[in-house]
Amino acid sequence: MYLTMNRFKVVKAEAAAFEELWKTRDSHLGDVPGFVSFALMKGPEAEDHVLYASHTIWADEASFTAWTKSEAFRAAHGGAKSSGHMYLAPPDLEIFEAVQVLTA
Ligand code: HEM
Repeated sequence: MYLTMNRFKVVKAEAAAFEELWKTRDSHLGDVPGFVSFALMKGPEAEDHVLYASHTIWADEASFTAWTKSEAFRAAHGGAKSSGHMYLAPPDLEIFEAVQVLTA
């Protein structure tokens, strides 16, 4: 299991528009080999922003790397530049490898 998490500091006034952008997007993940699950998570609110994390689980590192080089990645990010005004700073990508996994 391989987790890639991109953290977005979203300007408070843009939080609703940011959520709408994700909810109404045309996701291309479903057919990507090695894709396991995706969630957009809302975190704590600070004085000047709301923290969100896109949380994508992959079978392994190779699946993630292949997706970042794919047409599906390019298609998903065609509009990313036009959302630039929503963020305080560029997103922070953090990657985690599983040490232990327990499920219900
Ligand atoms: C290697 C770095 C990145 C990773 C791993 C990543 C991850 C993802 C994933 C998994 C999705 C969903 C794709 C889908 O459902 O098909 C997505 C979409 C999106 N990403 Fe990224 N992303 C990266 C870079 C960026 C950057 C630099 C930005 C902003 C400047 C950004 C903004 C967005 C936005 C706004 C969407 C929603 C798609 C839309 O516009 O409809 N991402 N990203």
